[in-house]
Amino acid sequence: MCGIVGYVGSRPALPILVEGLRRLEYRGYDSAGVALVDETGVSVTKTAGRFHVLEQLLDANAAHTHGIGHTRWATHGAPTNINAHPHTDCSGRIAVIHNGIIENDRALRTYLEQQGVSFRSETDTEVLAQLIGKFYEGDLEQAVRRALRDVSGTYGIAVVCSDEPDVIVAARKGSPLIIGVGKGEHILASDAAAILAHTTQVVYVDDGEMAHITPDTLRLTTLDAIPVPQKVEEVEWSLEQIELAGYEHFMLKEIFEQPDALENCLRGRIDLRAGTVHLGGLEERSRELIRTKRIILTACGTAWHAALVGEYLFEELVRVPTETEYASEFRYRNPIIDDGTVVIAVSQSGETTDTQAALREAKQRGALVLGVVNVVGSTIARETDIGVYLHVGPEIGVASTKAFTGQVAVLALIACYLGRRKHMSPAAATQFITALSKIPEQMRGLLNVAAEAKEVAEKYVERNNWLYLGRGYDYPVALEGALKLKEISYIHAEGLPAAEMKHGPIALITEGMPVVCIATAGSQYEKILSNVSEVRSRGGSIVAIATEGDDKIGLLADHVLYVPDTLESLQPLLTVIPLQLIAYHAAVLRGCNVDKPRNLAKSVTVE
Ligand code: M6R
Repeated sequence: MCGIVGYVGSRPALPILVEGLRRLEYRGYDSAGVALVDETGVSVTKTAGRFHVLEQLLDANAAHTHGIGHTRWATHGAPTNINAHPHTDCSGRIAVIHNGIIENDRALRTYLEQQGVSFRSETDTEVLAQLIGKFYEGDLEQAVRRALRDVSGTYGIAVVCSDEPDVIVAARKGSPLIIGVGKGEHILASDAAAILAHTTQVVYVDDGEMAHITPDTLRLTTLDAIPVPQKVEEVEWSLEQIELAGYEHFMLKEIFEQPDALENCLRGRIDLRAGTVHLGGLEERSRELIRTKRIILTACGTAWHAALVGEYLFEELVRVPTETEYASEFRYRNPIIDDGTVVIAVSQSGETTDTQAALREAKQRGALVLGVVNVVGSTIARETDIGVYLHVGPEIGVASTKAFTGQVAVLALIACYLGRRKHMSPAAATQFITALSKIPEQMRGLLNVAAEAKEVAEKYVERNNWLYLGRGYDYPVALEGALKLKEISYIHAEGLPAAEMKHGPIALITEGMPVVCIATAGSQYEKILSNVSEVRSRGGSIVAIATEGDDKIGLLADHVLYVPDTLESLQPLLTVIPLQLIAYHAAVLRGCNVDKPRNLAKSVTVE
């Protein structure tokens, strides 16, 4: 995902743009640039590479009070100096930064070339800049509006023009934009992280809207120029939450934040005495929810793994048929949505393109759509009918950790909320939420497993293939453990339902191959022990995640990392922690960039 920052006010713009872009670094990028504007012209500095490369090129004394900055994640054209944003039109007066993809850029490019425009870059963004330039007749807002009529695709854009040196025009379709409201200044960004140092008062730009921004005024309209009332909202995150606070990496910080994050997530939502769950975000449509005949959970990546835990929870507690679908598959396969189907979109960022598209498809087909989202005000949060926020705080590390446990906890709350209203007895609900309320404290103790997780990582870090096995509730955790390891340490890892191993993957097991077996106490314990024996007899090295007090597993496993006992259905909240730590230490030992793994961005806002 690319990052956008813009500033209009009375302070020097450059330090604000630089700081904002640095805060967006966690989203990953391969080039960056800024455009500073005054009545004498637009001055663009841009380069391929990491942010410090750009910083060295910038004139720290620039006094401009107006500018835009961008971090690019290449889609159209390689990450080169020329292809970096901002892009200007032929006149050099207009500069554009853009997140998203212009789908008809080929046709527009050909058309503009026929009109005599010669292009410098291979990007779709330059096409947009040239198109705006072509329509510019002294009113930037009009020119942008006119240009966007010819454009198909997705965009979050910020446009400046030296003829209107105190104006930024922004527009949004499929790519988030937020405007921070300060005293005599506005800060535009694609992510609240770039704004928090200056203000927590924000206006969210919705899809299909444009913003005309000056230091003292902000005007929102639809793309068709119909005025839109604006609402100033408070961002609940603080600056401290997006800083490292002494940790070496955000991923480690976020792993260790999980007990507090989960407490925030549960706060005010459970009533132990009454055995009930309160979820204000569901009340409005609770009758429809309770009558649901089928639940579909849709998500991508780690959120999909959390959704799979949700599937098991819903079937056990709500007793309603539930399926988990990859959002990317769901959106294109003509899904069957019957009357009474509820679709739950699970997403940390609330901006993942496939998940957004899946929920739109579900909505169009008449489903009641529920969001389980972390980022307040994000697209998915705004487009779902009802929802429950995670409240686990900002997640900066690309590898999702506290969002996973937050997602599982919220799905557990929703399952209990519905189960209790259908057939769960007060005693069963009380038992469930009592166990859930103990998880944060259990996590605090469990984090001491970090040293053992590091030892495991040290022992096997040179092995290039790992397997992760689990059954029942432990199966989604096996998938998540394997994903964590591969995405940050680049070690190949596969997660499997343990019994599937004998249908093929067992052929992979050779002497010393690390096989992480999640073998917690519960209904499938004896079964997983058999799988552990199968691995052992083929020479695999077993790293077991087992329940405290288990005195059998040590006889079979090479290493045992113990987790506290809880209900079987809540074990994923605990078993995932040693796996996050193993992945983290493996990545550090391999010298990988833990928080910004190669080829990955924090939110995937392209298909
Ligand atoms: O923001 P989302 O939860 O919608 O993101 C979905 C996935 O892209 C995300 O979980 C991804 O798999 C993580 N980086 C994995 O750690």
